[in-house]
Amino acid sequence: MHSAIPDREATDIALGYAVRAPSVHNTQPWRWRPAPTGLQLFADTSRQLPATDPFQRALIISCGAALHHLRLGLATLNWSTSVDYCPDPADPAHLATVHTTRQRPTDAQIEQAAAILLRRTDRRRYLSRPIPARHIRSLAGRVSDFGAAVRQVPDPMLPRLAGPMRHAATLHSGDQEYQAEIARWSGPGRTCDGVPSRNAPAPRQAGEIPVRSFAEPTLLDPADHPDGAQWLVVGTPRDDRRAQLRAGEAISALLLTATSLGLATSLQTEPLGMLESRQEIRTQLLHDCAYPQAMVRVGWSAGHAAPLPETPRRPVREVVEV
Ligand SMILES: Cc1cc2nc3c(=O)[nH]c(=O)nc-3n(C[C@H](O)[C@H](O)[C@H](O)COP(=O)(O)O)c2cc1C
Repeated sequence: MHSAIPDREATDIALGYAVRAPSVHNTQPWRWRPAPTGLQLFADTSRQLPATDPFQRALIISCGAALHHLRLGLATLNWSTSVDYCPDPADPAHLATVHTTRQRPTDAQIEQAAAILLRRTDRRRYLSRPIPARHIRSLAGRVSDFGAAVRQVPDPMLPRLAGPMRHAATLHSGDQEYQAEIARWSGPGRTCDGVPSRNAPAPRQAGEIPVRSFAEPTLLDPADHPDGAQWLVVGTPRDDRRAQLRAGEAISALLLTATSLGLATSLQTEPLGMLESRQEIRTQLLHDCAYPQAMVRVGWSAGHAAPLPETPRRPVREVVEV
């Protein structure tokens, strides 16, 4: 008879998938604790970015992405999972407990799990080649599995996105606390895991939609054409911790599905840490019907663009309590 709980080796393999999840500034703000009731996920609030993410929303979304990566890792080992979200009202840092039963993975789970090692945040410009509508439908379908929705921003509406992106970038450029945080978490002087210089290209030109700038970028962007990325906004009908966690799972599923379709992706969330700019995106792009959780650039990388280096991760032993 199969045991109902993965053994230590299986858990470590699945956690090896979980640590590959995307996280804001690569903060990796998660801790895992194996318990008799299931594998528990905790927010590591010591890794919060107070100037970038004052409400911990991006932190919780990052943990949701790790939860989704873990579930895919377990699926590849023939474990199906169910999740108790926010199971302990007395401990808000306890975000989820994952329960397991024996079951073979679906094709979609195998495809997404295989994309985990291939996916990278690609902040360079993309080709202007269109994305087939069926690809966008696949991405939207994955996101809806987690109670979220995707809005593709049509070209005539891009100025409505560019406005709050530019406003946030301008405010942050004069915000010393934010700049000190970026210097701690990116570039050659970073004192934490963070985003290496080799993963960030030079800031965009005036007139382009700005994307988040990191310290001393060195990634070459070979594009000599305007960015052809399609912009998607992921939104949720509610905005509590559970919705944010599930948004993280949805975003993870979107990114991995895009990777398996050969598409490049880059999350962009700079305005969403600011109440006013987030509200503007909610009103202008989501008609006040959903809470924006992340913007995603999606598109085709230029054929001659160099493969992107991996962004380093903490080893499993640093994020698991034994
Ligand atoms: C909630 C969240 C917000 C993010 N926001 C941004 C952003 O504003 N700009 C950006 O370039 N990358 C953003 N990222 C991507 C992370 O910087 C990236 O996942 C991390 O550096 C690890 O690199 P990788 O995705 O290549 O593995 C975000 C990721 C998450 C999960």
